[in-house]
Amino acid sequence: MRVAAATRAEHGATDSRLAGVGLRLPHLAEVAAGAPTSAWLEIHPENFLANPHARELLLDIAERHAVSLHTVGLSVGSVAGVDREHLQRIRRLVDEVEPILVSGHLAWSTHRGVYLNDLLPLPYNEETLRVVATHVHEVQDALGRPYVVENPASYLGFAGSTRTETDFLSELVTRTGCQLLCDVSNAFLSAANMGYDAYAYIDAFPAHAVAEIHLGGFTREADEATPGGEILIDTHAGAIADSAWDLYAYALRRFGPRPTLIEWDNDLPSFSRLLAEAARADAVATDTFNRARAHAHALAG
Ligand SMILES: [Fe+2]
Repeated sequence: MRVAAATRAEHGATDSRLAGVGLRLPHLAEVAAGAPTSAWLEIHPENFLANPHARELLLDIAERHAVSLHTVGLSVGSVAGVDREHLQRIRRLVDEVEPILVSGHLAWSTHRGVYLNDLLPLPYNEETLRVVATHVHEVQDALGRPYVVENPASYLGFAGSTRTETDFLSELVTRTGCQLLCDVSNAFLSAANMGYDAYAYIDAFPAHAVAEIHLGGFTREADEATPGGEILIDTHAGAIADSAWDLYAYALRRFGPRPTLIEWDNDLPSFSRLLAEAARADAVATDTFNRARAHAHALAG
């Protein structure tokens, strides 16, 4: 298996780059032709399953770069179950690419063969835990590796929820041995939308299971349900907000160095603009761990 510098990083090692960027189809040829890139790249496998030319370029890129697979169609939250044919298509791509990580969302997006374009929310209770745990087991059995489950962007809660999101994720880790992807931007915007403290959310997130971090741009829109209010939408359509960078530094202090992805899917800029955002993530990480080390030295002295 190829191992990214990011995954080799030990706590306190500040010279390894942690940040990767999402590799989208418009940038594929550029990267395949040898353009400079980030420490690692993340792709959506669904973009490559029915596109033989893109798949060929991806396999060429994966020979030279660490690649992570972020699925958008496995839908481990669907009551009807995971689409086994789709899972086998993902498995074949995993066998070919040998990714460093395979991740997907704590959400549902399919029902009775209909693929919806959204990642839909789940109530956090025992019934949902059993459904999601069964499907995570199924995915892990098929792929022969831990599945990395991402916290969703939230806009509403369910009266039927009996657990917090972090408690639900923690119990999912215990039952399945899965790993977690902490999307710091999702944590920030969910906290703002739902009225809780984003920093307390990071404090409660099961740090030992975090295999990856996401950072993406969000959009502020008027909340039609609340006069004068606003809602933050997970659009992945711009630069990362300063408030999310601050929360990222806090998450790094709690989790330690973790591979960190810049997610930018809509209004896609140049590849070099994505790399600049990744360089900012690496700079934040370096600064965070240098400060932590200096603080530890001061205490020891
Ligand atoms: Fe994400």
